[in-house]
Amino acid sequence: MTIKQVMVVGAGQMGAGIAQVCAQLGFDVTMYDTKQEALDKGMQLITSLLGRAVEKDRMTEADKEATLSRLTASTSIEDAAEADVVMEAVIEKMQVKKQLFQELDQIAPAHAILATNTSSLAITEIASATNRPDQVIGMHFMNPVPVMKLVEVIRALQTSEATFKAIDQMAKQLNKTAVESADYPGFIANRILMPMINEAIYTVYEGVASIEDVDTVMKLGMNHPMGPLTLADFIGLDTCLSIMEVLYEGFGDSKYRPCPLLRQYVQAGWYGKKTGRGFYVYA
Ligand code: CAA
Repeated sequence: MTIKQVMVVGAGQMGAGIAQVCAQLGFDVTMYDTKQEALDKGMQLITSLLGRAVEKDRMTEADKEATLSRLTASTSIEDAAEADVVMEAVIEKMQVKKQLFQELDQIAPAHAILATNTSSLAITEIASATNRPDQVIGMHFMNPVPVMKLVEVIRALQTSEATFKAIDQMAKQLNKTAVESADYPGFIANRILMPMINEAIYTVYEGVASIEDVDTVMKLGMNHPMGPLTLADFIGLDTCLSIMEVLYEGFGDSKYRPCPLLRQYVQAGWYGKKTGRGFYVYA
């Protein structure tokens, strides 16, 4: 299958990052969102990151212009009718995703693959909302998408081999390293990352060490680019909590119980960088 036209659904940080990378690597991209403001913000982010790449001599002005010319912003879901692949990157709510996939299934051409960037929800359940479950798959990018080399490719129970191969090939075309995961809670990345972050929060909660010292240990002791609490703020504490809940419910194992301090920060609205306060305070 030849993939040329990509529709990215959702113009948030992940959606914009995915749209940028796809356009940079030669795909024609429609970035769709219901809100014009979100599209404007997403396009601004992409334009400024491409501008920075030109400034740093990582990209020519001509390549930047060519990338932007392959990118269209749209508020019409009907544009999915042109897509070879739809990549969904909207809010992590199963009901929202199922309804969206149902709608996309009605509009997208019969050959189109419907991919989701979900970080932990069951792809098998999302696929079941469509009449083409064999053409539904998980394609989980890491944040920030233009920088991080990894993509998890997740097969739903129903995903066909042809769908898997097409998406695995596309990940390579995007200059990403793809790893294959079965559809179990947290896949690979978040099954390992989130319990580490949760344990870092427990270490603070139990008074073992300060926030700064926990981060210093992991940065200087394990060479992580960011300490786990800084990373949690960067991902969003609301997202971290919801992924821990998925692991806890999905496996029914107490080792995944979310730390009460994480829950309390989320109750306070301290979601991290995006709200100006999490484990750290942001200007
Ligand atoms: N978008 C695009 N590029 C970005 C960026 C962004 N949001 N943030 C930083 N960059 C680029 C910068 O432009 C910079 O490149 P140049 O210097 O060439 O311009 C480069 O990345 C390094 O940035 P900085 O020097 O400002 O800062 P840094 O050295 O700390 O790097 C980082 C930033 C790449 C984010 C690094 O801190 C890092 O790797 N952190 C860990 C990120 C991580 O673990 N991501 C996975 C999160 S988990 C996830 O995504 C899955 C999930 O489901 C929750």
